[in-house]
Amino acid sequence: MARKVILDVDPGIDDAVALAMALFDPRLEVIAVTATAGNVSAEQATSNVQAIIEKLDPPRLPRIGAAREPTGGRLADARHIHGNDGLGNIGVEVAELHQRHPSDKVIVEEVRAAPDAVTIVALGPLTNVARAMARDPELATMVGALHMMGGALGAGNVTPAAEFNIYCDPESAQAVFRSPTTKTLVPLDVTSRVVMTYDQLDQLPGELTATGTFMREILAFAFRSHRNVLGLEGIHLHDAVALVAALHPELFVTEELAGDVEIGGELSTGSTIFDRRPSPSWRPNMEVAVDVDASAVMDCILRGLSAIEMR
Ligand code: RIB
Ligand code: CA
Repeated sequence: MARKVILDVDPGIDDAVALAMALFDPRLEVIAVTATAGNVSAEQATSNVQAIIEKLDPPRLPRIGAAREPTGGRLADARHIHGNDGLGNIGVEVAELHQRHPSDKVIVEEVRAAPDAVTIVALGPLTNVARAMARDPELATMVGALHMMGGALGAGNVTPAAEFNIYCDPESAQAVFRSPTTKTLVPLDVTSRVVMTYDQLDQLPGELTATGTFMREILAFAFRSHRNVLGLEGIHLHDAVALVAALHPELFVTEELAGDVEIGGELSTGSTIFDRRPSPSWRPNMEVAVDVDASAVMDCILRGLSAIEMR
């Protein structure tokens, strides 16, 4: 039986890649895709989720959750990496959602409809997950599993200390980290080890397919932005790596750690702190990926995308 998943995304080129993989993976039943602000505004994130689903036309249509701006948090600009529209400036046109249901409300409804059976894959700031837990205090114990792309054991990316998803809404991230939900965190240290190179574009679905055209358009922007902004000859697909961690945990090494989020520091706001002392006193609250078989994970991503063409 396919595994029920909710993808919480702030598309974002790497979110779009993860979403395409999940929507066509027969092992997964994507029951909802909930938009969150992060790489782009709440409005743009919601439009981008709609556009990706319309462009890819998956076998099963998920519910869509509409994003709302975080109350606290900080706007961290990711347009230099993902484009002004978040999808490589390809220009997405979507019709207004007939009935806009807030993302956190969709999460509560779908988890309550299948207690202990839903995996949430959070690939953006944790605003929606925290709001869903606040909306329904029992929710945290009803989620089957929560997989998060975010945080860093070492250096951040949006500041020296903080990774983007946590930095955008540290208060929500702290609430989620402190919740009793079964959590796995895939931090920047691990996701940055997986790099797609230009020659691997040939393994994507054919240019004549909707997916192939869409992927090539958004990834072309990513290759340019990673070269011009990060000086990289290749691209990171942080969110696709986090999705693979939920599908193939055997490709990762994890440690059970106690993790929390700095929300008050001048220089360290949004940093993730883990108690890795020889005799830790904090109570462990999540599994954290600390190592990865990077080439095997990239193979999974390429296979996941090329499988779309077969459908
Ligand atoms: O730091 C990487 C994360 O920030 C990814 O989820 C990317 O999409 C951005 O949201
Ligand atoms: Ca993301």
